[in-house]
Amino acid sequence: MIKCNNVQEQAQDLSSEIFERWQALLQSGEFILGEEVLAFEAWMSERCGGAHAVALNSGTDALFLALRALDIGPGDEVITCANTFVATVGAIVAAGARPILADVGDDELMNVDTIAPLLNERTKAVIPVYLRGRPLNIDAILDLCRARAVAVIEDCAQAIGTTLDGQQVGTRGDASAFSMHPLKTLGGLGDGGMLVTRNPKIAEYARIARNHGLETRNESVRFGINSRLDSLQAAALNVKAQYLDQWLKRRVEIAAFYDDVLGTTRTGTDLGGGKPGNSYYHYVVQSQNRDRLQAFLAQYDVQTAIHYPLPIHWQKAWLSSQPRLVLANTERLSRQMLTLPCHHHLSDGEVEKVTTLIKQFERTEGR
Ligand SMILES: Cc1ncc(COP(=O)(O)O)c(C=O)c1O
Repeated sequence: MIKCNNVQEQAQDLSSEIFERWQALLQSGEFILGEEVLAFEAWMSERCGGAHAVALNSGTDALFLALRALDIGPGDEVITCANTFVATVGAIVAAGARPILADVGDDELMNVDTIAPLLNERTKAVIPVYLRGRPLNIDAILDLCRARAVAVIEDCAQAIGTTLDGQQVGTRGDASAFSMHPLKTLGGLGDGGMLVTRNPKIAEYARIARNHGLETRNESVRFGINSRLDSLQAAALNVKAQYLDQWLKRRVEIAAFYDDVLGTTRTGTDLGGGKPGNSYYHYVVQSQNRDRLQAFLAQYDVQTAIHYPLPIHWQKAWLSSQPRLVLANTERLSRQMLTLPCHHHLSDGEVEKVTTLIKQFERTEGR
């Protein structure tokens, strides 16, 4: 089976290094925060050009705490898109604010043209999503928002390793949220997340809020939540982080191979358009016959995925609480998109098999 993700393989490859680190942790008894969490924060901060990095137990909490740090809540509107994982909108709702959904371009990303018509005096923040690990035009979004004193929280849950002008994305807005969910390009063996910001006040807010509002061991300055990154997860992530660049390089190689071969097919290449800096968390193509293509590949033991078949505004959670919306591009993409296998455990032969089968499918469909 050519799998769409390599969660088990990654864990197995590194199990002895991870167990070694866990063994040391078991001896130290430092199960909450401590050295492993600090080391992971330091690694992330360095990767993000010295920005503050606060380790949390999920990317969702990073979005939620960024919103709360900016005092965004009831009565406020926050613009994001419907072509994302539900957590982006869930965090807005959890903060008590109203989510407003923008459509996306053909590259599946939000842009100033889809955001601008939705801005009004109630808009307090925009959350652009680096879907698939694709770089987006953040500077244009920042210009649009800053002119109106609207905050920008970058949803980088899928974008560790994604760069703009050679720099890790997630440091230009007011704050950003990363996810270390196991499926992510840098994933733990359970949940994990990180809030990154250049604003020391937002970092301080998150650091205190993640730990019951405790400023010292026994003094709470504000009621908070428990959103500490688990030390065992931090230890595993510290091991995996050492391999990230090597893994990213392989993803980019695979994407280049797909680009080369699929460029001449009707299915075409990744919807991100091959922009530099893409970390290829997902390599996504579109097909008018998406479901048949997926079934055909499955027959030959190629696993693919659809991220996401049901856009947010078609979810029960939305329909039971928010107005009905039409988001034409988002809806078209949800019917046509297909995520191909793209991770560092794929061999050249496996990647070639995927492209050969896509061409074979097109010949069969063309008859
Ligand atoms: C775009 C996006 N935003 C937010 C999240 C939430 O991250 P987590 O699962 O770590 O809470 C995810 C995770 O899948 C995501 O893909």
